[in-house]
Amino acid sequence: MKLQDIKKVGVVGAGTMGQGIAQISALAGYSVVLYDFQATALNQAKLNIEKNLEKGIERGKVTVQERDQSLSNITFSTDFEQLRADIIIEAIVERLDVKKELFGKLENLNSEKTILASNTSSIPITRIARDLKHPERFVGMHFFNPAHIMKLVEVISGVSTSDDTSNTVFELAKQLGKVPVMAKDAPGFIVNRVARNFYVEGLKVLEEGVSDVKGIDRLVEASGFKMGPFRLMDLIGVDTNFSVTTSMFNAFHQDPKFRPSRIQEQKVDAGHNGRKSGKGFYDYSA
Ligand code: NAI
Repeated sequence: MKLQDIKKVGVVGAGTMGQGIAQISALAGYSVVLYDFQATALNQAKLNIEKNLEKGIERGKVTVQERDQSLSNITFSTDFEQLRADIIIEAIVERLDVKKELFGKLENLNSEKTILASNTSSIPITRIARDLKHPERFVGMHFFNPAHIMKLVEVISGVSTSDDTSNTVFELAKQLGKVPVMAKDAPGFIVNRVARNFYVEGLKVLEEGVSDVKGIDRLVEASGFKMGPFRLMDLIGVDTNFSVTTSMFNAFHQDPKFRPSRIQEQKVDAGHNGRKSGKGFYDYSA
């Protein structure tokens, strides 16, 4: 599959990341199908995309015509059969078994040429692709949050990914207005691995009672970071961030430097998953 053959983009998962990926694909002129098994997620995604495009107009970055065209480019669907496209970008829960099952089904539904891409933050691409009939067209396409704003995209080749596939995805990322970087397949790839200590160490400081959530964030932000670890975990999704840490802890054979925190696990147990659920380390209900 070459860049010019890509006309239709499928996005699976209409949560934090999927909605942004659908938005930028539609804005770049692609026909998009955004699929989620929860209708509520799709409704929320539609509202958020409309709001983001509206903000784009206010800032002079999007025209009224581009907004209307983008919205008409997206089909919001709970019907799995609609997920037929030239490339499908997956942004569902960070679990190997669930992702593998999904890609098996996507492979059966689509042509042999369709590129299958995962936005996984931490699961090795080679591992997700292992049981596919055509692992050569499987690749990592890792966007950053918020996906409609952050420029960086890591393009990750697994052991079986063909050069053709990774090159096309690299070019597609540019077409979407992003700055792609090729990365090798290692747990957490590059950015998440380097950044992991930011969250893990922030949580340890909290656990040890050295300071509280606000205090840690305030100091880290005063030192020049755009967001402290807790504000950032709330933006990412406390549950997603927890799954990524857990997955990296296991991938690095229980290396204590990636040990997930009980405090974070308890937030997840309570459903306090950050901005998307109205409450996380901070309260967003007001
Ligand atoms: P999220 O929890 O906000 O959204 C996930 C969505 O997928 C939900 O709407 C859920 O209903 C849907 N879903 C779950 N299982 C599904 C299935 N089997 N079929 C169809 N839909 C399903 O998750 P988020 O944060 O968007 O993360 C998605 C992926 O992107 C994960 O792999 C995560 O590691 C990765 N990622 C997340 C980033 C972040 O900052 N949140 C940044 C970069 C990557």
